[in-house]
Amino acid sequence: MNAVELLKEQHREVNALFRRFEKARRTDDKEEIFLEIAARLVGHDAIEREIFYPACEDVFGEDEALMEGIAEHGLIEFSIFRADKARGEPTFEYLVTVLKEMVEHHVDEEEEEVLPKMARKADAATLERLGKAMLKRFEDAMAKDFRRPLREDLQQVLAGRTRTTPPKRTARSTTRERTASAGARSKAGARSKAGARSGRATGGRRKQGARRASAS
Ligand SMILES: [Fe+2]
Ligand SMILES: [Fe+2]
Repeated sequence: MNAVELLKEQHREVNALFRRFEKARRTDDKEEIFLEIAARLVGHDAIEREIFYPACEDVFGEDEALMEGIAEHGLIEFSIFRADKARGEPTFEYLVTVLKEMVEHHVDEEEEEVLPKMARKADAATLERLGKAMLKRFEDAMAKDFRRPLREDLQQVLAGRTRTTPPKRTARSTTRERTASAGARSKAGARSKAGARSGRATGGRRKQGARRASAS
C-alpha cells in the first residue's frame, strides 16, 4: 500500500473508532476504545512526523499546510494526554470529544491539501517505499505503550518544536543535525523563548519560524 493510501486508511480507522466511542454506553468500553484511539494516533503521528512530512518537504519543499499540520499534531497530542489523565473522571468524555474535533479538522486539511499534493508530485516508487517504511514504523509503535513517546513528543512541543525530524535522511547528516538541534535546545534555557526559536531555525526557515512563533 502506498504512503497516501496508508494514511487515508488510518484516518478512516480512527474515525470509525470515534464513532464506536460515541455509541458505547459502558464507561469501561469507552475507556478501552479511547486507548485504542490514543495508541493509533501516537503511531500515526510518528509515521507522519518522522517519515511522511519530511519526505513531503524533500519532494515539494516547505509548505504552509505542512507547517500547520506539524503544529496541529502537537495540539492533538496534548488532547490525548489530557483525556488519558481524565479517565475515570467526569471530564473524560468531553475531552475525547475535543480530541475528535481536532483530529477531524486536521484530517480534513491533510486530505484536502497535503496528501493530494504529495500524490501528484511524488513518483509511484517513492510512495510505495514510504508506505512500507511507514507501516513498519506504525507496527513498531503499536507494539509499545503510547504514553512514553507521547510524553517525549509533548516535551519537544513545549520546548517550541515547529518542525519534523530533519528532512535530510542520510545517517551522517541526521546525526549532525541532531547534535546541532540538541545544542540549540540546551542553549534555549539560557535564552529568551523567541531567541531560542529563531536560533534553532535555519536558512529560509528562520523567517517563517519566527513569524509563526510570534503569531501563535
Ligand atoms: Fe494523518
Ligand atoms: Fe497529520
